[in-house]
Amino acid sequence: MESKRKIIITIDGWSSCGKSTLAKQLAKELDYVYIDSGAMYRAITLYFLRNHIDWTKPKIVASTLQDIKLEFIYNPKSKQSEIHLNGENVEYLIRDLIIAEKVSEVAAIKAVREFAVAQQQKMGKNKGIVMDGRDIGTVVFPKASLKIFMVADNAIRVERRFKELYEKNPNITLNEVKNNLEMRDYIDSHRENSPLRKAEDAIELDNTHLGMKEQLEMAVGWAKERIGEKK
Ligand code: DC
Repeated sequence: MESKRKIIITIDGWSSCGKSTLAKQLAKELDYVYIDSGAMYRAITLYFLRNHIDWTKPKIVASTLQDIKLEFIYNPKSKQSEIHLNGENVEYLIRDLIIAEKVSEVAAIKAVREFAVAQQQKMGKNKGIVMDGRDIGTVVFPKASLKIFMVADNAIRVERRFKELYEKNPNITLNEVKNNLEMRDYIDSHRENSPLRKAEDAIELDNTHLGMKEQLEMAVGWAKERIGEKK
C-alpha cells in the first residue's frame, strides 16, 4: 500500500489562544505526532529555578544547558506525550504560574533558543508532526507545508487561562492571570531572538467566536489540501 504523504504543520500565536488544544486534536485526527514546544522552555525554566541558576550570565547558561535532557514520552493514561526533564515527568509541574512568570525571560535567551530549536528540528525529521509555539513557522520549520497563526480577543484568552489555572489553584485571581498574559505577550513579541510574529505564508485563525469542532474542521481541511487528499 502506498504510504500517505506526511507534512509538517506549525501552529503559532499568542499565549492562551488555544494552540495546544487545536494542535493535539489535529495530530490525533491525522495520526501525527504532537509536540508542545512551549513545554521545553517551561521545563528549562523549572530546572533553572530549582537549581538557582543565574540566567543573566551567558557562561552559566551555556554550561547548565549541558546538564539538561528533555524528552517527550507517550503516557497511555493521559493519551498524550508528556515532557520529561532528566528522566522526571514534569508535564504538570511546568503549568504552574511560578513557571509562567519567568518562562518568557528564559525563552528570550539566545543559547536557550538554540538548544530547544535544534531538538525541535530533529523531531520533525520524519515529518508527520504538529508543533505549536511562537516561532515554529518562522524559525523552526520555515518550509512547513501548513502554517497556522492563532489569534483571539484578549478578554477571551484571559478567561480561558483563568479557568484552566483556577482548577489547580483556587487562590488565583483574574488580575494575576491578565497581568501574566500581557507581560508574556509583550516579551514574546519584542525579544531580539525569534520574536513572535506571523509567517508571511501562515493562515490566520481567529477563534474568538469559533467552537473547538469548527476550528478543527477548518484545520483538517487545510491539512488535507496540503497532504493532497482533497482537491
Ligand atoms: O505555549 P506556552 O505558554 O506553554 O509557552 C511558554 C513560553 O515559552 C511562552 O511565554 C513563550 C515561550 N515559547 C517560545 O518562546 N517559543 C516557542 N516556540 C514556544 C514557547
